[in-house]
Order: sequence, then C-alpha cells, then structure tokens
Amino acid sequence: MDAAAPPPRPPHPGLPAPPPLGTCALPPGTYDGSVVLVTGGGSGLGKAMAAEFARLGADLVIVSRSADRLKAAQEELAGLGGRVVTAVCDIREPERIAEVFDAAESALGPPSVLVNNAAANFPSPAEDLSPNAWRAVLDITLTGTWFMTREFGRRHLAAGTPGSVIDIGASYAWTGGPGHAHSAAAKAGVRNLVETLAVEWGPYGIQVNGLVPGLMPHPDLPESILRGLDRAADEGELALRQPALRVGLPRELGWAATFLASPYARFISGHTLVVDGANWQRRALVTPPVNSVREQLGRGPFGQ
Ligand code: HXC
Repeated sequence: MDAAAPPPRPPHPGLPAPPPLGTCALPPGTYDGSVVLVTGGGSGLGKAMAAEFARLGADLVIVSRSADRLKAAQEELAGLGGRVVTAVCDIREPERIAEVFDAAESALGPPSVLVNNAAANFPSPAEDLSPNAWRAVLDITLTGTWFMTREFGRRHLAAGTPGSVIDIGASYAWTGGPGHAHSAAAKAGVRNLVETLAVEWGPYGIQVNGLVPGLMPHPDLPESILRGLDRAADEGELALRQPALRVGLPRELGWAATFLASPYARFISGHTLVVDGANWQRRALVTPPVNSVREQLGRGPFGQ
C-alpha cells in the first residue's frame, strides 16, 4: 500500500446520516413569539444554531465582533422567516453587553433564550502562551460567557420571567486538552458555571445547560482547529477518525440547542449534552506512543 494513501474505509456503516437541512426537530412554531440571542451568531456553529431557532419561529439577536459577518448572516437568516437584529459587541465589555440587551428589548422584546457560543481558541504548547494570549482566551471564553449570562439572569430575575441559557462547551473540559491549555481551562470553568447557576437560578425559572459539539466542519472554522493535529487530507479522512465514521453536521448541534431551550426540556437543567458521536469517549485498545505537543505542532525545542 502507498504510504501516503488514506486508510481504507472499514466495512461498517457508521452512525446514520441525519435528516436534510431544513428539517425541524420540534413542532412548527415552537419558538413563535420568542427572542433568541446567540453570541458568535454571525458565523459557523453559532449561525447554524440561530438558523434552527429561526426555522421554529424565533426572532434572533446575533452578536459578534465583526460587523461584516453580522451583515452577511443577517441576510441569510432573515430568509428563514423571523426578524433578525444584529449587534456588534465584544463580550469582554459588560457596559456594551447591557447596551446590546437594551437595544434587543427595544427592537424585539426581551430574549428568553441566550446561547453563549462565542469563544476564543488556537492550538499552542502551554509554555509558549504569553500572559496576554492566556488572558485573551480566558477573558472571551469564560469571563465573556459569564458577563453575558449575568446580564441575562439579572434582567429575568428583576422581571420575574423564566429563561434558558445554553453554554457551548468542549469535551476537554472533562479530559484536559493538551495543546489547548487556555481553552480547556476556560471551558472547564464554563461547565462548572452551568452546574452552579442551574441550582442558583432554578428557583427563579431559569434553566442553564451546556452543549458540546464534536467535529462539525464548516467554512468558518479556522484551518488550525479543523485539521487539528491530525493533518487529515480531507473530510473523508477526518470521518474515518471518528467512531461514527462520519463528521457531525452543524444542524445536528442546532437541533440539540432548540431541544434544550424548548418547553420539552423544562426539567433538564445543569446538564451538559455532548453531540459528538462518542468521539470524546474514544480510547485506543493499544496505547499509541507519546509525542509531546511541541512535536505534534512541529515546534522546535523550547527556548531555541
Ligand atoms: C499564538 C496567539 C494566536 C495564535 C492570538 N495570539 N492568536 N498566540 N498563536 N494563533 C495571541 C496574540 O499574540 C496576543 O498575545 C494575544 O493572543 C491576544 O491576541 P489579540 O489578537 O490581540 O486578541 P483578540 O483579538 O482579543 O483574540 C485573539 C484570538 C481570537 C484569541 C485568537 O481572535 C480568536 O479566538 N479567534 C478565533 C475564534 C475561533 O475561531 N474560535 C473557535 C473556537 S472553536 P501577545 O502576547 O502577542 O500580545 C473551539 C473548539 C475547541 O474552541 C475544540 C478544538 C479541539
């Protein structure tokens, strides 16, 4: 066999393909009259989740640091039916977050669902991370998530209204994430916040859940994260590295999000749902040799 050729596909079907794009997981109109705010909603998985809420009748507030991304996403999402409001916001800025909620309430009414999807990440050996790089990832992924949630929670507590928070997590919150020390630590904090707030705010009618995507390639995913350390040649080869023998589709995360925030999940809170075809549970029967993160990332010896 040619050493460069991809491994042959095993003679197993893998997990079945999901229904086509445009199919809804819940009854039509489940989110009629609801406002759903999605951070990082201008691209990637955030946009895909926003689309599934819109298909079910929601009006959307999509938040991003990039006005250009928001404009393109607004045009795309508006075609699905509901109203779409955009807000440029860095979630590290609590005053700006309060302005975004004020503007959303004026335009559409108070959001009843908050999807904390915005996050920061890039692979790096831990010892190469500068203090500023660490702070940037922790401040966006953990502190920004908290600032958004704090604003959402305080408004619902003041109004006496129920709400639902979904925090997008990562499976390395449980396992550790070699090559992603900053992001893994932040996501572990996010998972813990879900569990704490679900208890603190349950009495007020606020559900707080986590949702973890598996490998779901989309055009906005940075190449460094998509290919990861595997340097897979294409999506077909990436699929072979999953127990499902396929990658996930962004709409599969969207369907899970619409369920978690829906009336059909009102007794689910403090839970983090992993949508990854069991990839995070994978263990090799034969333990492979250890390569340092520096070697895997092709970096030379530290300090040289
Ligand atoms: C090393 C980097 C870097 C990189 C930024 N920095 N990118 N260091 N490698 N690729 C450093 C900078 O040098 C700087 O440190 C510090 O980080 C802050 O950078 P800024 O650009 O000034 O800050 P900011 O724009 O606020 O944030 C940069 C960013 C963010 C963290 C890279 O823009 C970002 O995350 N963008 C990508 C978002 C994204 O694609 N997220 C997908 C997440 S998916 P110095 O010391 O030089 O000042 C995910 C799934 C997990 O998380 C699963 C994966 C396996």
